Amino acid sequence: MLVRAFLSGAFVLATLVLPGPVAADGAEGEVLFRPCGACHMIGEGAVHRVGPHLNGLFGRPVGGAEGYEYSDDLIAAGEGGAVWSDEMLNQFIASPREVFRRTSMVFRGIRSPEDRAALIGYLRAEGSTVESQNGAEPAAIDPEIAAILDIAGDVAYGAYLSSECTACHRATGGEDIPSIAGTSPSVFIAGIVAYRNGTREHQVMNTLSARLGDEEIAALAAYFETTE
Ligand code: HEC
Ligand code: HEC
Repeated sequence: MLVRAFLSGAFVLATLVLPGPVAADGAEGEVLFRPCGACHMIGEGAVHRVGPHLNGLFGRPVGGAEGYEYSDDLIAAGEGGAVWSDEMLNQFIASPREVFRRTSMVFRGIRSPEDRAALIGYLRAEGSTVESQNGAEPAAIDPEIAAILDIAGDVAYGAYLSSECTACHRATGGEDIPSIAGTSPSVFIAGIVAYRNGTREHQVMNTLSARLGDEEIAALAAYFETTE
């Protein structure tokens, strides 16, 4: 019953604030959440992974989940009084770096307003039906990512391999190609692993990452962390 109340609440709000039809049904939301799930958990037992857990998000200060180390940008926004609302989240997931320029969330954004609205409905329902896990210890991260994080990446080897990447990934990024310079290794590796195992779909990145072994990913992560 709670779920239904939250769902219909989200529906009303979303239609007031956001353009386009809203279909906040669970199945669609679950599919839309998949790319987020590479880094975030939501729902019962959710804990921090690469990104903070997303339970109890709405109405909470930006950067406000206990026990998670946010970027300075999110901390500053939260201290300045910014709180997660439907509209704030709508802008953030459309283009994270347009809202918080130096956020450590490496995600291009979701173009479709309908998809964003449906995802917001899903986040409201999933993250509100259980108690927030604020204060929970950060979870052990995904074993595949952890294994690569354990490797001391060879920066020189990474620099050598990076020539294959910088043809597309220029320092400043571009309209369709995100900048990966200065990315923290945990975020970088989570990104590549998501392409390698197909959680994130992009033809070139899926093909390229399928060819990369763990040593190579570690080397690239070590190298790109040093770039600006
Ligand atoms: C590659 C990993 C990654 C992906 C994919 C990702 N995030 Fe994040 N997310 C992060 C990180 C890291 C942070 C912390 C950002 C910071 O501190 O600047 C974050 C922060 C957030 C926050 C702020 C939470 C708070 O407590 O203030 C929200 C909301 C969020 N993400 C939602 C999403 C949604 C929705 C998706 C999918 C559409 C998504 N994220 C995809 C890594 C990711
Ligand atoms: C042909 C162009 C091209 C090449 C070459 C390329 N990339 Fe990408 N890369 C992209 C595009 C486009 C995206 C965004 C795809 C998406 O929407 O998920 C991306 C996304 C990424 C991301 C996730 C960034 C984010 O903000 O979400 C990482 C990390 C990444 N690439 C690393 C690499 C590495 C490492 C190499 C070299 C081994 C490489 N890329 C080579 C085009 C390219």
